[in-house]
Amino acid sequence: MAKLSETIKQKPWVGWVLYAGTILVVFLIGLIGSTIIERRSETVVLQTVKPIADWEPRNSIWGENYPREYETYIKTEDTTFSSKYLGSITRDALKDNPDLVIMWAGYAFSRDYNQARGHYNAIKDIRATLRTDVPQPSTCWTCKSPDVPRMMKQLGVAEFYKKPWKEMGPEITNAIGCQDCHDPKTMNLRISRPALVEAYERQGKDITSASHQEMRSLVCAQCHVEYYFKGKEEKYLTLPWDKGMSMEQMEVYYDSVQHVDWVNPLSKAPMLKAQHPDYEVYKYGIHAERNVSCAECHMPYKTEGGVKFTDHHIQSPLNNIANSCLVCHRESEETLMKNVFDRQDKVLQLNKLATSSIAKAHLEAKVAWEKGATEEQMKPILKLIRQAQWRWDYVAASHGSSFHAPLESARILALSIQKGEEARRLIGELLVKMGVQTPVQIADFSTKEKAQQLIGLDMPALWKAKLDFIATVVPQWDKAAKDKYGEVYK
Ligand code: HEC
Ligand code: HEC
Ligand code: HEC
Ligand code: HEC
Repeated sequence: MAKLSETIKQKPWVGWVLYAGTILVVFLIGLIGSTIIERRSETVVLQTVKPIADWEPRNSIWGENYPREYETYIKTEDTTFSSKYLGSITRDALKDNPDLVIMWAGYAFSRDYNQARGHYNAIKDIRATLRTDVPQPSTCWTCKSPDVPRMMKQLGVAEFYKKPWKEMGPEITNAIGCQDCHDPKTMNLRISRPALVEAYERQGKDITSASHQEMRSLVCAQCHVEYYFKGKEEKYLTLPWDKGMSMEQMEVYYDSVQHVDWVNPLSKAPMLKAQHPDYEVYKYGIHAERNVSCAECHMPYKTEGGVKFTDHHIQSPLNNIANSCLVCHRESEETLMKNVFDRQDKVLQLNKLATSSIAKAHLEAKVAWEKGATEEQMKPILKLIRQAQWRWDYVAASHGSSFHAPLESARILALSIQKGEEARRLIGELLVKMGVQTPVQIADFSTKEKAQQLIGLDMPALWKAKLDFIATVVPQWDKAAKDKYGEVYK
């Protein structure tokens, strides 16, 4: 040091060089840091070989221009990865927790409910679920295929929703793909689903002014959100965001329009079914607060032969920690994995307490009705059951919630448990008042089979009808599509 200060005294320009050098180094470090955080600002060179028609639903046609994106997209067909609770394998949610069968009694979800798999399987899975055997509107197709915006253009949005689900079968054959998120002329991200645009408009916001970084989440929010089918005939897909996007604000909205998805025949409670408010719950997490988008974790950048592009294999990031989390975090893969599991374990603990409480409340309410409880006596109890189950479902149906926003998930589940137990306490008091000995005996529903029998489902008959449908109707749909549009592409 002494030597350096002497040198500077003798040759002052050395000091200036050191000074400028330090500034340059600090600037470069800052630049590197900001490119890590602002990965979004990096541009990827595009080469358009052949123009793609607007509303082209066939992914392989887009793939001719963008083979890397297409090849990674096709990997969403893979169903082999499983993490501790999620992943692309088929998981039977009713088998994992038979409480759900009781909670969804009288609703198609009590028949069959598997956790989500990769996008490429969306058409296969909606055709195969027992939930599409009850008459459904075409609204159910909305988040499954790029044929949807194409048909909406052709028929009109309202007309599309209203059509019976089965009538639209021969038109909807391409799985979720390029057209759902991109404008084929510019390849810019684009919102193709009207419900999201309309929800923005009703809140006085214009979605076309969303920033690029917001779009990297909003393309997902076209489908990974809470919604309902508005109107008995119209079945118009609507996001319940008019009063705000929190769990409570959406409940206020549903109550204000007196929305009831179905009545549980055991308790006679007027129920709400939460869909999958992934986007809304994510908003309450630290990553959203730090402006990390869905794409950062689920579609990280990838480099192949010196070319950098967006990995379109949308999946559990736990199958790709190196490219997703490690871009920002310094911890080891093991530590990050443990961080995810810790949050999931803890939220699941509350989740199980909630379902156990709510399932019992439905069955105990049934006993109260049988013993002669009146509508007036039951009204506050049924309201609590509705509220408890909405809260639970809000977290449970949003599959990544326990990681995306662990604290918000735990808060909502705590409220669910409180409401469920409050309902049970009121039922207990009512039964005592009616001279019924408590606690009442409730039937065994400890397995999916027992629970489905208890609510009167004839599962072998339901499966037979489904298998017949897959063997006879589905091939007709595929043939009709092939005759009309040529080869049915991937
Ligand atoms: C900070 C990273 C991160 C961000 C940001 C993020 N996720 Fe996730 N997501 C995860 C992790 C980790 C899981 C848990 C995966 C597991 O357990 O296998 C997950 C799970 C999921 C799942 C369930 C996956 C499965 O295998 O079934 C869905 C769906 C999902 N996220 C969608 C979204 C959407 C939509 C957004 C944006 C609104 C988003 N995620 C934002 C990291 C992220
Ligand atoms: C679920 C939405 C979604 C789907 C489906 C989708 N993409 Fe993308 N795509 C994105 C996102 C997000 C980006 C990153 C864009 C950005 O940050 O500007 C992207 C980027 C791209 C880019 C720019 C270059 C790059 O790799 O970053 C191309 C080209 C592209 N996608 C092609 C396709 C093709 C081809 C398909 C169909 C096989 C497809 N995309 C399906 C969301 C999607
Ligand atoms: C057009 C509707 C639609 C869009 C847009 C969409 N998804 Fe999905 N996503 C679905 C559906 C439907 C499934 C379930 C498919 C199945 O189980 O067959 C799904 C499944 C998933 C899964 C589970 C995958 C697995 O392997 O288990 C993840 C993760 C996911 N989506 C993330 C995203 C992200 C991130 C975006 C935005 C970049 C996005 N999705 C955009 C409809 C959509
Ligand atoms: C684009 C950058 C980015 C990516 C990608 C990212 N994170 Fe983060 N993560 C952050 C930031 C920023 C925070 C907040 C930390 C802070 O501000 O001090 C955070 C916080 C966390 C926390 C602490 C949150 C809490 O609940 O207290 C965990 C755990 C975490 N990240 C895990 C992950 C995992 C697992 C992945 C991959 C699936 C991931 N992150 C991907 C930027 C990122």
